[in-house]
Amino acid sequence: MRIVRDRRQVTALCREWRRRDSLKLAFVPTMGNLHDGHLALVRHARERGDRVLVSIFVNPLQFDRPDDLARYPRTLEADTKKLAEAGVDALFWPEVGEMYPDGGATRARVVVSGLSEELEGGSRPGHFDGVATVVAKLFHLVQPDVAIFGEKDYQQLLVIRAMVDSLDFPVLVDALPTVRESDGLALSSRNGRLSDAARARAPELYRCLCDTAEACLLEPDQWPKIFPELVANAQERLSAAGFRCDYLSVRRADDLGEPRVGDRDLILLAAAWLEDVRLIDNLRLQYGRFAGAR
Ligand code: PAF
Repeated sequence: MRIVRDRRQVTALCREWRRRDSLKLAFVPTMGNLHDGHLALVRHARERGDRVLVSIFVNPLQFDRPDDLARYPRTLEADTKKLAEAGVDALFWPEVGEMYPDGGATRARVVVSGLSEELEGGSRPGHFDGVATVVAKLFHLVQPDVAIFGEKDYQQLLVIRAMVDSLDFPVLVDALPTVRESDGLALSSRNGRLSDAARARAPELYRCLCDTAEACLLEPDQWPKIFPELVANAQERLSAAGFRCDYLSVRRADDLGEPRVGDRDLILLAAAWLEDVRLIDNLRLQYGRFAGAR
């Protein structure tokens, strides 16, 4: 596996693959601290492309709190080993100064208005501007045929899709379902920061989403009227389990708008703090179909 640290070199490498050998390029952008969820994206990338490039870049622009940025786990040695074993062709691992030579005071930013401003964006103002900006930069540098993201960060996925559609990026965006521990906890780089006690309680977030989804599915004719009460119950249950709920909301799956009468493809989205760790999760809520797994 080649490790590239320079913007011009990564562009030259990808151009060589594409132009000289007509190879199809699949790209998995990450912030490192790789777990099985990332490796599932990499395996999918192998099926979708002749060459697979992964990036590891902890993007300061998308962090709203300096302590969160400072504490974000950096595990390059272990990550490199996993990627090499997974058959990745090249890793792009730039320094912050390489991605933001102007020191982060980037003059141009990508803003996906509306979608970026609530739920995650409401709690973390500017977060999605940082995500969209870095993903746009990476897409320009790499020019992949296909880029692969996880559905765990569902709102991020929609923001990136909206950016790609609105700005005509010539890339296909593929998404893979959330990978979970056997007790249901969604895999996340932040799970490693949970204390033993918090780790034992953490799966309650997903269980609560599953039970709320099941309760919604019992009365589909009452959608969306029944949602506020079921959501309030779920929030109370999370508080009783020791979470500080940031939001728990039922939204339309395609644009995260508020559900209307007749909508049938919805999603439950939640963010909640356990001690000092913020967990997010989601569960699709489709008419007549339970999407959870227990
Ligand atoms: O999901 C992530 O790991 C990051 O938000 C991404 C897409 C790599 C952008 O920094």
